[in-house]
Amino acid sequence: MAMAMAKGRNCLGLDIGSSAVKMCVLKSTKRGLKLMAFDHAKLPPETIVDGALMDSSVVSDAIGELLGRNKIKSRYTALSVSGNTVIVKKIRLPLMTEEELEESIQWEAEQHIPFDINEVHIGFERVETKNEQGQMDVVLVAAKKDMINDYTTVCIGAGLEPLVVDVDAFALQNMYEANYGFHRGETVVLIDIGHSVVTMNVVTDGITMFTRDLSAGGSDITEEIQRQLRITYQEAELYKMGGSPGAATDEVLPQEVESIIQDKAEDIAHEIQRSLDFYAMNAADSKIDRIAVSGGTASIPSLVRTIERISGVETELINPFRNVSYDERQFSPDRIQRWSAIAAISVGLALRRTNER
Ligand SMILES: Nc1ncnc2c1ncn2[C@@H]1O[C@H](COP(=O)(O)OP(=O)(O)OP(=O)(O)O)[C@@H](O)[C@H]1O
Ligand SMILES: [Mg+2]
Repeated sequence: MAMAMAKGRNCLGLDIGSSAVKMCVLKSTKRGLKLMAFDHAKLPPETIVDGALMDSSVVSDAIGELLGRNKIKSRYTALSVSGNTVIVKKIRLPLMTEEELEESIQWEAEQHIPFDINEVHIGFERVETKNEQGQMDVVLVAAKKDMINDYTTVCIGAGLEPLVVDVDAFALQNMYEANYGFHRGETVVLIDIGHSVVTMNVVTDGITMFTRDLSAGGSDITEEIQRQLRITYQEAELYKMGGSPGAATDEVLPQEVESIIQDKAEDIAHEIQRSLDFYAMNAADSKIDRIAVSGGTASIPSLVRTIERISGVETELINPFRNVSYDERQFSPDRIQRWSAIAAISVGLALRRTNER
């Protein structure tokens, strides 16, 4: 390992989402975190389906575009995967040493992972070393080798060197910890609502209790607008964002669009609630203190309010730059504000260090 890496600096955070690639570069200074770069590049529909890269060259080009126009020198990258082929499970094991765990994890994983063990990459992290029963809790992460390979290949193709492959749920947790911190005795539900995936992570005392990725998000809203108004996907996206592709129909459409957004917001919030109910049913302590949301679709204020109403839990939008300083000559507070919903995961990835394992 090179000296510079041994000393450690922040990885380039690269969040390859189904609607856009987000890139974030942070610098850890004595006075805290500083934003060096953030940018995003849209991906055409169907480029990524169910987390699988359908068109690698489009993604590679988007990454190249981000690196080029921001003159990025960092190469060491942290990226993440998500979706329902990524399994994150907390398991309870008898107390053992790191070496013993290393040796038995493959076998343990086989009991908990519904895929051929030879086709998945297994990661694990000890989250609680010893509980009341003298056992320990380990978070097991399994992702298809093919999928990880596709994601790392696309980065390498764009000239990057992937060092860390994370999952969205943990990137979200790291981002929240750096900006808000976790408090003793508190349970916070972190929810990233993107284009096609909703990532949930229930965190108590800073420890993950439960995670789940749902197949839902902003594309549900766009597709419904497209279907009901018989317009193109691009037009539907524009309407969803509060704009309009043509002036002629302005008067009638906003109301219709508004009611479609509200209907879909209800659906998404109910689906989130079902997962919260499932968590509560299995948890020793099911109290939830707060829900904190991020992701592009969380920019819809009525969605945040709907989640709050249905869950009965105080719900707020996350600011991933809350504890991150930036040069106002380089980034206007206005742009920072506009980026904040989509930036959460990439900020979490940009926190990872080149010298960690
Ligand atoms: N102001 C806004 N109002 C409504 N929707 C928005 C707004 N801004 C972004 N979105 C929607 O947010 C989604 C993009 O968010 P994000 O970048 O978090 O998703 P993603 O990471 O690409 O997707 P995923 O993680 O699900 O694969 C798109 O569906 C986009 O239409
Ligand atoms: Mg995303």
